[in-house]
Amino acid sequence: MMSLPDRSNYSRREYLRAVVAIGGASALSACLGETGDIDVPQGVDDSTSLPERQHAWNNVLRTDDDGNRLPPEHHVLLALSLSVEPSDDTRETVEEAFRTLERAYEWSHDGLLFTVGYSPSYFERVGGRPADVDLPAPTALTEREESNFDTFDAVVHLASDHPSVVLAAEEALFGEETELNGVSVETDLSTVFERVDDSRRTGFVGAGLPAQHTDLSDVPDSVPENAPFFMGFRSGFEESQATEDRVTIATGPFAEGTTQQISSMDIQLDVWFEQDNHYQRVAKMFSPEHADKELVGEYGETLKSSSGLTDERIDATEADARSRGVVGHAQKAARAREDGEPLLLRRDFNTVDGDSPGLHFLSLQREIDDFVRVREAMTGADVAGEGVGPVLNNGLLQYIFVTRRGNFLVPPRSLRALPPSSPES
Ligand code: HEM
Repeated sequence: MMSLPDRSNYSRREYLRAVVAIGGASALSACLGETGDIDVPQGVDDSTSLPERQHAWNNVLRTDDDGNRLPPEHHVLLALSLSVEPSDDTRETVEEAFRTLERAYEWSHDGLLFTVGYSPSYFERVGGRPADVDLPAPTALTEREESNFDTFDAVVHLASDHPSVVLAAEEALFGEETELNGVSVETDLSTVFERVDDSRRTGFVGAGLPAQHTDLSDVPDSVPENAPFFMGFRSGFEESQATEDRVTIATGPFAEGTTQQISSMDIQLDVWFEQDNHYQRVAKMFSPEHADKELVGEYGETLKSSSGLTDERIDATEADARSRGVVGHAQKAARAREDGEPLLLRRDFNTVDGDSPGLHFLSLQREIDDFVRVREAMTGADVAGEGVGPVLNNGLLQYIFVTRRGNFLVPPRSLRALPPSSPES
């Protein structure tokens, strides 16, 4: 168990982020000591009043002035390993533990949003991968990665604007809280799952949060003050996100569910900020034309609800590689749109797990193959050698290093407790 950081070395927000990363009872009490009692709205007794889609978060997120949805600020990914065989009793226990969270906290950014997803390994253990969902085991998707693959059974994604809420929810799920926001905790997951501690992941996202980490040696002072993400630009514009409908499984027993892909990566931020200037960073992040026309502003504030990727800018990717010697990450990835629609709903967040900057790239899509195709477009092997290198001037490739990959099925809410491989529809 890691010890708590020295309070005097941190700003308040930074300290709160640091205690979420550590987790556990002492982190929770340090967090509450810092925030005091906060008023968090309670949830509902009847979980059937909540959306059948666990991933239906969009309606209960804040939006910015341009109408883009803002993700919750604090995140924990809990990796779980099954310690018993699924049965009616264990299913009831798991369902009741999740219902406790829903009673305690409003289903919103101001309360708690969460999903539970199950890995291909889980389904193999309980009878085989679902026949009608595309859920392959994770594999390396680029030549340059030495990824570890997530083979634990399940992952719970906890998200809230309040750091104490994600910590308390985690504690309650493992029987270390008797009361949660005024609701008594009768049932928890500890008789069914063990936590895989070395795969616990944490993070944060929001204007100003990345710039608070410049005390870490790998986070340069030049991270822009207002940027919500480490690389200095805002992302998740409404028009470049898939809709919740687009990522939802449409048919079969898991209809209303989705698939979740989680890749974790290190970011070489010092090179990004110190080797390149703002013009180059805009060209590599968006497109050379974004840089020429100064479309982005300092961190994306002049873009409104769109990343400014017209069909022409997307189609110009190969020509930009040849004639400009640089292509943007966003223009390359957007080549995978289908009928003009993005395929991924990105819910990624920054991290300093391991005390160095990174990103937990969490995306939802109808099939894992949608992710694979977008990732191929983003890698852009087809443009490499056409004026840009395999990584050099080829979007973000020079700066990101994937370390883990995992694929999960996020079932509909009514099947979230230890789903069988082929539930009766
Ligand atoms: C450190 C890593 C990353 C950073 C900083 C980053 C940042 C961005 C930014 C700033 C945009 C443009 C703004 C927007 O459209 O929301 C964007 C778009 C996008 N990124 Fe990333 N990204 C990263 C990694 C990834 C990864 C690993 C994928 C996986 C395939 C990905 C997929 C996409 C997609 C699909 C789009 C939207 C394309 C479209 O408009 O259709 N990104 N990203």
